[in-house]
Amino acid sequence: MEVKLAKTAGFCFGVQRAVDTVYTQIEEGAFPIYTYGPIVHNETVVQELEEQGVRVLSTKEELSSLKEGTVIIRAHGVGKHIYDLLEDKGIRLVDATCPFVRKIHRIVQKEGANGRKILIIGNARHPEVEGIRGWCSTSSYVVESIEEAQNFTVDPREKLCVVSQTTFNYKKFKDMVEIISKKGYDIIVLNTICSATEERQTEARQIASQSDAMIVIGGSHSSNTQKLFEICKKECENTYHIQKLEDLDLKASQSIRCVGITAGASTPKKIIEEVQKHVGIKF
Ligand code: F3S
Repeated sequence: MEVKLAKTAGFCFGVQRAVDTVYTQIEEGAFPIYTYGPIVHNETVVQELEEQGVRVLSTKEELSSLKEGTVIIRAHGVGKHIYDLLEDKGIRLVDATCPFVRKIHRIVQKEGANGRKILIIGNARHPEVEGIRGWCSTSSYVVESIEEAQNFTVDPREKLCVVSQTTFNYKKFKDMVEIISKKGYDIIVLNTICSATEERQTEARQIASQSDAMIVIGGSHSSNTQKLFEICKKECENTYHIQKLEDLDLKASQSIRCVGITAGASTPKKIIEEVQKHVGIKF
């Protein structure tokens, strides 16, 4: 009986780095410690951190009312005004912005200074996109759908710089760039998509195609987990979606020779390892 765990299961590099940063701050005793927004979309992790004294701040007003402590910026990043606010107040900032997101901040800052307006391909309500807009010194625009790309217009004399939200779908990005490029603006395009999501999906597809049963671990509301489940189910009929080990109802059967495991982007390593160990013992 073989158990195959996807190498890309769970946190991506940037989220793991952000979570590790919080634990380092706890070890160093930098209290009171706050994260600006939940460090990862996983209640278990956030609760565990809360028990260790880490509080989540959700609004700018809450940040403004701080008198002391350490504020950790999560992987999604934030706009420049948040750095300025904390500096003005003399509050220590620990920056766990993913380096791939930080790179986009630097691009839009530089291109804005060069007189280009910024066009972000992504979801305007996503904190990462809000953060990127917060580094644009000139006007910025956001388009998310093919239709929005078709309807997008600015003054023909405008110079544009196009970037993407890191988790955007590459094919859709390419199609939208093609539509916008035909409009005749002076335009530069930088593909700032991070490959972590796609790599996780490709590996899940490959493992599922070679497995007799496949387990996908992740939150019930997590859209990337749902997507992983769909991909795996297409390759392996015996695909199970669970949130934690207790949900697993995998019947031992002689026909199961290989079980594959993957997990969504906000699933902690601990839960993945528990499932891996359990499946290894049971079969
Ligand atoms: Fe993760 Fe950073 Fe990519 S947060 S999805 S590694 S941009």
